[in-house]
Amino acid sequence: MVQAKPTVRNTKKRIVVEKTFCEFFAGIGLVREGLLASGWSCIYANDISAKKQAMYESHFEGATHFHLGDVWKMEEVVERIIGRPFLATASFPCIDLSLAGHYRGFGGEHSSSFFGFVNVLQALGDRRPPLVMLENVTGFLTSRDGGDFAQAAKTLAGLGYWIDALVLDAKNFVPQSRPRVFLIGVADGLHPPGAVRQTPGQWIPDLWKSKVAASNSVRSSKLIRLMEKVELATGWIALDVPSPPVLKTQLADLADLDDQQEWWNTEEVQRHYAMMSERHKKHVDDLLAEGGRHVGAIFRRGRNHQQRAEVRFDGLAGCLRTPRGGSAKQIIIFVDKGRLRMRWMSAREYARLQGAENFPLDGDKMQLLFGFGDAVCVPVIRWIDAQVLTPIFNKAAAIVQGGSLSSSPRKERRKARVDEVG
Ligand SMILES: C[S@@+](CC[C@H](N)C(=O)[O-])C[C@H]1O[C@@H](n2cnc3c(N)ncnc32)[C@H](O)[C@@H]1O
Repeated sequence: MVQAKPTVRNTKKRIVVEKTFCEFFAGIGLVREGLLASGWSCIYANDISAKKQAMYESHFEGATHFHLGDVWKMEEVVERIIGRPFLATASFPCIDLSLAGHYRGFGGEHSSSFFGFVNVLQALGDRRPPLVMLENVTGFLTSRDGGDFAQAAKTLAGLGYWIDALVLDAKNFVPQSRPRVFLIGVADGLHPPGAVRQTPGQWIPDLWKSKVAASNSVRSSKLIRLMEKVELATGWIALDVPSPPVLKTQLADLADLDDQQEWWNTEEVQRHYAMMSERHKKHVDDLLAEGGRHVGAIFRRGRNHQQRAEVRFDGLAGCLRTPRGGSAKQIIIFVDKGRLRMRWMSAREYARLQGAENFPLDGDKMQLLFGFGDAVCVPVIRWIDAQVLTPIFNKAAAIVQGGSLSSSPRKERRKARVDEVG
């Protein structure tokens, strides 16, 4: 049971809580990238992919905590986690929560690795982090008719966490459509100011219900219906989260449009134009006739045994994906004063669309696209940190007796002494 007693007693049984975290399914480390600015320190990262590890370590120079290994090898994992992290994040594989994995959900071999993560939490015992965050595609809300989401929430509640969930779309932060579900588990007693907990069986209108109902910018009605259906050993908590910001940039602002880019020849451009539906061709024709400059994105998709080029000119790129087989790679389409230009989106543009513009781009392009396509969007993580994760850490700090919390947000390691969190 994860517990954090809100009161501080004068006891010798004090533990030090640091602003540290473990990043499970770390990939190229974009969760870490999002958390660094507010002073979180990564003490352990785990992933099974050596190629992702190479990308991670090329960015976080001197990182020695990356454990290349299977999360199911629980003893190996637990042995490498030194001390007690405050937060554990898990962007577990999404493939079985999507069409690509036939919506097998937790019945599939990839997404079920969530339970490898759960085994680690269990095995950590009194070193279990008081805060956990899962991240996945919105298929997590629908796979097995919501059963996977319910199972994940119940499993974490069984370990003592109060649970909240949010749906955030990267399009509020960068010009990329990328909705994602975040499930957050908080130890008892660590709910930050403004959070409301469910009160099961209460006869007066439940405050939790009204709080989630009023938060439709981050909790869709589908998500709320699902939460209301699932009974947890602890309960649901509604964290106090504002509406996400309104995006001020467009795909055109971060696409490279100069002649140095690898623009396709006329034949290739025409081949992709021919792959468009009549409606999309007309849209392109209208923009060509208009004569201005317009930047859009194309995805190639198989439709009725035919390759289709689907075009969007709404200022956003489609959701970046892992380019398995090449068809999931995204294409830049540029209507340049009556001239039609196209090319593959570059790794630099992928990095920008994930809010990771400073990431080094050495190595194989496909690998880079693969790493970024699978990753989290950095400003989304930064926002969740500011609204949820750091306030929860600060709550722990507020129950500190004689704490030594640094006021410098830049400091890598913040320390707070709390009485028996755990
Ligand atoms: C959705 S990606 C996470 C991406 C990451 N958040 C980032 O920002 O790059 C899921 C990751 O889980 C890893 N993975 C899959 N099965 C695993 C396992 N059994 N043990 C450890 N990692 C695994 C994959 O290699 C992949 O990098």
